[in-house]
Amino acid sequence: MVNVLFVCLGNICRSPIAEGTFREIVKQRGLQACFSADSAGVMGWHTGDSPDKRTMANAEKHGLKLTHKGRKVTEKDLTAFQHIVAMDEENFEALHTLYYETLQKVPTPDALFLLRDYDPQRNDQASVPDPYYESEVAFEEVFQIVWRCNNALIDHLVAKYKIVIEEEK
Ligand code: 4NP
Repeated sequence: MVNVLFVCLGNICRSPIAEGTFREIVKQRGLQACFSADSAGVMGWHTGDSPDKRTMANAEKHGLKLTHKGRKVTEKDLTAFQHIVAMDEENFEALHTLYYETLQKVPTPDALFLLRDYDPQRNDQASVPDPYYESEVAFEEVFQIVWRCNNALIDHLVAKYKIVIEEEK
């Protein structure tokens, strides 16, 4: 089982939908036995909270129900998950510092990276933009970014772990 942890700032907007879309793509590809996903925030402001109403509404528009409850990233997460995926450059820096201070080593590029490293349309944008103070349009943009990035990330992980997809008989 490959474990992936998505991390943003508050764990109510970007990382819950990154987790939800990752799970959905895994399900659509019949890979549930191979991957598990979770999400967390750099900050613990929304511990125990459901995702933001706008995130939930946008997810439902795309047929996804999000059941995650907010939590803060922990030191244990750094070793419990093979892959930690930061939504933006600030989250990445915070996680890099936590990783270095906790484990006294620099994370490999496969242990900690930015989701948009896998964006087929990345251009010069390294971060998934924070939609918290924005309109509904920004939530749809986040959905589109995390959907296409997760498709590419899963392609990468399937190749890395040499996962064989069995055709249904
Ligand atoms: P997220 O968005 O990091 O994508 O979950 C935010 C959620 C909450 C806050 C900021 C960003 N906040 O300031 O409470």
